Amino acid sequence: METNNDVLILAIESSCDETAAAVVRNGREVLSNIIFSQIDLHTIYGGVVPEIASRKHIEKINQVIQEALDKAEVTLDDITAIAVTYGPGLVGALLVGVSVAKAISFATGKPLVGVHHIEGHISANFIENKDLEPPFVCLVVSGGHTHLVVVKDYGEYEILGYTRDDAAGEAFDKVARAIGLGYPGGPKIDKLSKEGNADAISFPRAKVDSSEYDFSFSGLKSAVLNYLNSCEMKNIKVNTADVAASFQKAVIDVLVEHSIAAVKQYGFTKFAIAGGVASNSALRSAFEQECKKRRIEFFHPSPILCTDNAAMIGTAGYYEYIKGTRSGYDLNAIPNLKLGER
Ligand code: KG4
Ligand code: ZN
Repeated sequence: METNNDVLILAIESSCDETAAAVVRNGREVLSNIIFSQIDLHTIYGGVVPEIASRKHIEKINQVIQEALDKAEVTLDDITAIAVTYGPGLVGALLVGVSVAKAISFATGKPLVGVHHIEGHISANFIENKDLEPPFVCLVVSGGHTHLVVVKDYGEYEILGYTRDDAAGEAFDKVARAIGLGYPGGPKIDKLSKEGNADAISFPRAKVDSSEYDFSFSGLKSAVLNYLNSCEMKNIKVNTADVAASFQKAVIDVLVEHSIAAVKQYGFTKFAIAGGVASNSALRSAFEQECKKRRIEFFHPSPILCTDNAAMIGTAGYYEYIKGTRSGYDLNAIPNLKLGER
């Protein structure tokens, strides 16, 4: 089905609680994108349990890879290279994907390309926005990361700012737990906020003194917890929809302000968002409005490509592959891998 010049990447992602595999042609065409989500398994514990995640990955990974090949109507013979997330993430979870990718590479003799998970999230923007090319500014907001990044070229990044404490998604998850919504909190706060008043409670918009582009969400989380405690002490019934909406607005205001300031100050005309929190409906519409007002082109992946998936790893893997990046059989999982490091 493919011509000789096509580059077909088999991509594997297992950094957290999604066991995922995809086949991506020439970087931007997703032939298959299979995601086995473990969310139901972890919900009862109120968050991801690393050991359970690793065990489930090992159970599911071969099946998910086979499904990805079948759906793409290819076999391992057709694949050009194998891309795999090797960090950052949960070490035991990452090791499953890395080991399987190495085994496939060893058995087939096809090249192995280790991919940075955040590079994957950023690259998700290339899939549906066929004309998007670097340079642009990207806000990466996920359960583990909040980074404001200049994408200078494919695989070349300059980090302008990051969170000093909690990631944006982590704040959503913690606040959701405090108001009794359960895990994962982001989508639940997103939904409940639609019934609440975002101006009902005034929560802080944190600034980090030393850096214009850094973020801090732990103060906001504490402010929400204090508000809940003081309501309880005063016997005031909490309107959880108002809390959710006011908290969400406080997060979004800071994300929008920092991002737009960076795009303007550095003179870029394109801005993208990535990561699980980028699927938040209020965040997307806030950026849509701001970018329109300021004539900035705004890009975002579909929700399914915002949360963890392997298609984004296939896209990032493709650009690494054509640059000549190859990983050896000593590739290891690196739980705290920094963006731009190899
Ligand atoms: O990118 P992702 O799937 O995994 C990481 O790499 O961390 O992000 C998961 C995070 C979770 O914290 C989840 O609550 C958050 O993304 N999230 C959302 C929404 N959907 C997922 N946060 C806010 N609104 C959403 N709609
Ligand atoms: Zn992720």
